[in-house]
This record gives sequence, C-alpha cells and structure tokens, in this order.
Amino acid sequence: ARSYSITLLPGDGIGPEVVAVAKDVLSVAGAKEGVELRFREMLMGGAALDAVGVPLPDETLAAARASDAVLLGAIGGYKWDNNEKHLKPETGLLNIRAGLGVFANLRPATVLPQLVDASTLKKEVAEGVDIMVVRELTGGIVDLRHFSAPPPPPPPDKLQLIFYKRLYPQIDCIARVAFEVARKRGGNLCSVDKANVLEASMLWRKRVTAIASEFPDVELSHMYVDNASMQLVWNPKQFDTIVTNNSYGDILSDEASMITGSIGMLPSASVGESGPGLFEPIHGSAPDIAGQDKANPLATILSAAMLLKYGLGAENAAKRIETAVTETLDSGFRTGDIYSPGTTLVGCKRMGEEVLKALESQK
Ligand code: NAD
Ligand code: IPM
Ligand code: MN
Repeated sequence: ARSYSITLLPGDGIGPEVVAVAKDVLSVAGAKEGVELRFREMLMGGAALDAVGVPLPDETLAAARASDAVLLGAIGGYKWDNNEKHLKPETGLLNIRAGLGVFANLRPATVLPQLVDASTLKKEVAEGVDIMVVRELTGGIVDLRHFSAPPPPPPPDKLQLIFYKRLYPQIDCIARVAFEVARKRGGNLCSVDKANVLEASMLWRKRVTAIASEFPDVELSHMYVDNASMQLVWNPKQFDTIVTNNSYGDILSDEASMITGSIGMLPSASVGESGPGLFEPIHGSAPDIAGQDKANPLATILSAAMLLKYGLGAENAAKRIETAVTETLDSGFRTGDIYSPGTTLVGCKRMGEEVLKALESQK
C-alpha cells in the first residue's frame, strides 16, 4: 500500500472541529483505495501563540515541509486581534504559505444541484455555476513574508517599487498555472485586475497577455476587479477560470462562495513548484459559532479531497469523498448555513458521521 504523512494544523475557532471530522473522512477514503495516511498534529495560529508564544513555531514549519501534504483548519480570533503584526495568528498563516512556497491557490466555486436553494441568487442564475478562482498567494499587497520578526519601516515612497520587484516573476508563474487549469476545464480564462488605475496591474495584464501565446488553445479575456465583482453576482455562468492577484482573489472567492450557498462549502488547494501542498477551507475560524458544533465541515472535507487529488495524486480516493458528500446532501442532511425547509438540520459532528457512513457503504 502507498503510505503518506499528513501534517494536521487544526488552528483556532471552528478549525479543530472541522479538521477532526475531515481527518476521519481522509483516513477512510484513503484506506478504501489502499492509501495509508499517517497524521501528525502541530500547533499554528492562536493555539501556537498561547502555547509557545509564536504563531508559526519552527517545528511546525519543519514538520509541514517534511510531510507529503498539509491540512489546515483556520486560524484567528478576537483574543489575538490586537496583537502586534508579528504576533498575529494571520502572520503564521502567511508565513507557512511563504515557507512552503505555495504560490498558487485554487478555489473552486461549484453550485451543487442539491444546494441551488441555499444560494442567495435566483435558481436560474446560480444553477450550473462552476468557477475556478486561481489566486496568487505569496505576493501582492499582502506579502508579509518577512514579518515573522518586527519589520523595519519601509520608506513610504519605495513601497510600490518593492511590490513590483516581488510581483514580477510571480505573475508569469501564476499565469502559467492558471492557463494549465483553464486548458483542462472550459478553455476560458478571465484575468481580473485594476489595470486602468494601478501600475502593478498594468504589469500584470502585460505579463498575462505575453504568457497567453504559450496557450493558444485557451481563450483569454481581461476584466477590471470592480466590474468582475458585479458580473459575478449578475451572470456568474460567464466565468470558467479566473486568475487574479492575492487580495482580489481573497475577496472574489468569498463572494463566489455565496453563489454556491455558503462559505462553509468552499475548499482550496495551495501548491508550489515542488514540495507539499497546503489544503484548507477558504473560510476563517468563525469565532461567532466556534465550540457550538454548528460549523459546516464540508469545505474542509472537500479540501481533504483536493489534498488526495492535487497533493497525493490519489484521484480515486478524492472522487470517493466528493461522491460521499453529494450522497450526504442527497439524503437531506444540512448544517445551519445551508439549511432550507424540508431538509434535516445537523451539527458539524453529525454531518461528518453521515459522510463517513456514505463512504463506508461505497464498494
Ligand atoms: P469567517 O470566514 O471566519 O466567518 C465569516 C462568517 O461565515 C461568520 O458568520 C461565520 O460564522 C461563517 N462561517 C465561516 N465558516 C463557516 C462554516 N464552516 N460553517 C458555517 N458558517 C461559517 O471570517 P471572519 O469572521 O471575517 O474572520 C474570523 C477570523 O478568522 C479572523 O481572525 C480572520 O483573520 C480569520 N480568518 C482566517 C482564515 C484562514 O485561516 N484561512 C480565513 C479567513 C479569516
Ligand atoms: C484566507 C484568509 C487569509 C488571507 C488571512 C486570514 C491571512 O482571508 O485564507 O482567505 O488573506 O489569505
Ligand atoms: Mn479570505
């Protein structure tokens, strides 16, 4: 049997609740396909700050690097909101992404037929939406990789220059990933930027257009981010694959999640040139519902499926999880965020148990 080591980073808030559920689902799906998974849980985020005083302990990054894939819940919470930047849970997250070199963040937003009613958009608008947001993850205006120690204040007039230097090779890399993804999907790539105003975006558009010549089979279009955020809720079906920078991708993927019914449904995969990938739901630690067994674990369960597919190349095991999720929804089970009349309201744990049951009954 193939055997892999998985680093688990439960984190804060609902993170531990959803990771516990996803871990069991991962084990069973792997076992069904002869893939043995060994788990090692490490500290990150606020949990690490409380235990050892830093948001990303060296042992955690070392363990993550030495493993085959990393599954992360979420980090952050009120308790640490006023910490200095280098002592914020979020800085730990940015640093593990940078430390693993996972510059490409794939965030699929798919409207499942079972959840059309959970969407805030009209049925005819939401039905059939299937978008992949490719978000650049280690550059852009939220590039804080050097903030593990208090950073020296940058000269204000040099800020844009730093931004360019970092961003330049990163545009080519993320563009190639996005074209590859689009080629395997609908062959349609929309690059979202603010090239009418920002010089960094003018460079982005220039480079994406240059890389397009390597992918003549993919149709490339460009859209300004303000228009894109409007088009997403007006006519989301026009989009196949979207490529955009770190901050626009962050915002547009949360927006896209609501088309699918809930932010509790959206998984993500972060990958680099080589080394282990990082897999996490797109949502945060949801402190408002933490510790109440209310969280929707499906985003993390579907992130586990992406881990199997993109991280370990175990496509059959990934398919099993996706099928188990749709079967569980077919059986009518819903957490509060995707509940609609006529369905069965369950908590995080029970949702996990139902997915496990569906998995176990597969041949
Ligand atoms: P959030 O995504 O945590 O929550 C936004 C809203 O969505 C809340 O009402 C929450 O209850 C709900 N929600 C989120 N996930 C859900 C789920 N699985 N099931 C049901 N409902 C769900 O965003 P926020 O409130 O802006 O941020 C809270 C904390 O999380 C902050 O500290 C923030 O920095 C952090 N955060 C972390 C990550 C991450 O770890 N990747 C991502 C986003 C935010
Ligand atoms: C996300 C989050 C993070 C980000 C924050 C918490 C650093 O919003 O994963 O989407 O901006 O990437
Ligand atoms: Mn976000």
